[in-house]
Amino acid sequence: MNDDDELLQAVVAMVRRARHVVVFTGAGVSAESGIATFRDALTGLWERFDVAELASAEGFAADPGLVWGWYEWRRMSVMRALPNAAHRAIAALASRVPKLTLVTQNVDDLHERAGSERALHLHGSLFAPRCFDCGRPASLPSDVPDEPDGGRRIAPPRCDSCGGPVRPGVVWFGEMLPEGVLQQAFDAARSCDVLVSIGTSSLVFPTAQIPVDAHRAGAKVIQINPNATDLDAIADFNLRGTAAMMVPALVRAAHRCT
Ligand code: APR
Repeated sequence: MNDDDELLQAVVAMVRRARHVVVFTGAGVSAESGIATFRDALTGLWERFDVAELASAEGFAADPGLVWGWYEWRRMSVMRALPNAAHRAIAALASRVPKLTLVTQNVDDLHERAGSERALHLHGSLFAPRCFDCGRPASLPSDVPDEPDGGRRIAPPRCDSCGGPVRPGVVWFGEMLPEGVLQQAFDAARSCDVLVSIGTSSLVFPTAQIPVDAHRAGAKVIQINPNATDLDAIADFNLRGTAAMMVPALVRAAHRCT
C-alpha cells in the first residue's frame, strides 16, 4: 500500500464512522463538466467587460440587457453540460451515511441533476430569477438563446406582478448571501463530524469560513483539490487530485467496506 492508498483508507474510515457529513463544493466540482469558473467565463465577447458591469446591482441598473444576456449565456452553457462523476458520487454518498448536508457555492444545477435531493446554494442559482424591483420569483423564458460561444444583449423579461425587470437569482458583488441558507450551512458545519471540501479556492468570505468553523467545532476536514489552497493549513487530509477522480474513489471505497 503506498502513501496515497493509506491516506484514502484513513479518509474512508472517517467517512464510514461519520454520523453527519457536510460536502462543501466550489467551481472545481463542475470543472470536469466543462463549466467555466466565474472569471474564466469572462472570455470572448465578454472579455472587454468588467465584473462590476456584469455582476452587480449597479451594473444591472445601468445596462439590464447586457447583464441578462451574459447570465442567459452562462445558463445556456450549464444546460448543455452534464453532471460528472463527482456530482454523481456525492449524490450516492447521501444514501450511505446517516446524514449529509450539501453546501455549494455554484450557481449551476449539476448537483440536482446528478440526483442530490437538496443543495444549499450560497451564491444563488442561474435557474431562480426574481424581480429586480419587487423581489418576487419569476419564471425563466422558455426560448433559450442559442449562442454558445457568442453572447449579446437580451432585454430581461418583465415581472408579472409589478412590471419591473427580472434579474438573475445569483448573489452579486456587494450583496448579502441568502441569510437562511447561510445559517443552515454554518449550523451544519458546526454540528457535523466530517466536512469534505471539494474544488474551492477557499478565498471568498464568508463562505470560506464554513470549513474553518467545522474544524473549530471538532469535525475532521478533508479537502479534495488538485492545487494548494488556504484550507491546506487546517485540513486534516488533503487529497490532491481532481474531483471526478477522487470523489468516486472515496465513495466507492467507503461503500466496499460497509
Ligand atoms: N477538481 C477539483 N478542484 C478543481 C478542479 C477539478 N477538476 N479544477 C480546478 N479546481 C479547483 C482549483 O484549484 C480552485 O481551487 O477549484 C477551485 C476553483 O476556485 P474558484 O474559481 O475561486 O471557485 P470557488 O472557490 O467556487 O469561488 C467561490 O468566487 O468568483 C466567485 O462567486 C464566485 O462562487 C464563486 C466564488
